Amino acid sequence: MVSTDAAPAIVVLTGAGISKESGLATFRCEGGAWQQVRIEDVATPEGFSRNPQRVHDFYNARRAQLAEVTPNAAHLALAELDRHWPGDFLLITQNVDDLHERAGSRRLVNMHGSLRRARCLGCEAVSPWEGNTTLDSRCPACGEVGIMRPDIVWFGEMPQQLERIYAALGQCELFLSIGTSGHVYPAAGFVAEVQGRARTVELNLEPSKGASLFDEVRQGPATELVPEFVAGLLARWR
Ligand code: APR
Repeated sequence: MVSTDAAPAIVVLTGAGISKESGLATFRCEGGAWQQVRIEDVATPEGFSRNPQRVHDFYNARRAQLAEVTPNAAHLALAELDRHWPGDFLLITQNVDDLHERAGSRRLVNMHGSLRRARCLGCEAVSPWEGNTTLDSRCPACGEVGIMRPDIVWFGEMPQQLERIYAALGQCELFLSIGTSGHVYPAAGFVAEVQGRARTVELNLEPSKGASLFDEVRQGPATELVPEFVAGLLARWR
């Protein structure tokens, strides 16, 4: 039983909506990525086997975009919460951009991988990656050429660090979901994991698919809702 004055254990889940106001496209909103390209072609192992160049091009373009964007007030507020929260804290992002890291978040899991890493299909080593992945990329670990892929979790693949994620959900007393449509599992199922034990809050531009599962839903842009919510938490617990 947690004593009443202990800071509750917090788990935050973010999706593409938190990076929208930094200038990065979401997936399912108007003009989103999945209206430009087919998931089957660029976000599945089969798509990569069929046409690896097309997949390299898709992620290379998104990686190049990172140089043009910066963390917004929502990313920065979550990094401040991470820095000052006296209790357990984990930020789980579905995003593959590096804006949470650049904002200063440390207790962070990129469950769908990261544009800043590439993985060798031969030795499975994951390496930090700047610039383009190509059909001629060499693995920094084993030296093999032509078998590098983006370290992105595609549909049909296992998300990363699930053990750490479910351990945090098991202790969670406050679950905050920000900027995600609730379409993709397992992330869309996290709220059901903690329901009844944790206070659950959704901060989103519009209600997500799972909005009815939350104790509280606040609608609006992340750069307004997140700093306000974090300030309220820190005023009480810092
Ligand atoms: N502030 C807050 N929320 C926003 C904002 C904003 N400025 N702009 C958009 N949103 C919300 C939308 O209302 C939507 O609910 O962000 C959500 C974005 O939903 P998606 O585009 O589906 O992105 P996401 O939920 O992160 O997708 C999950 O699907 O394709 C896969 O791997 C991909 O990680 C991705 C996963």
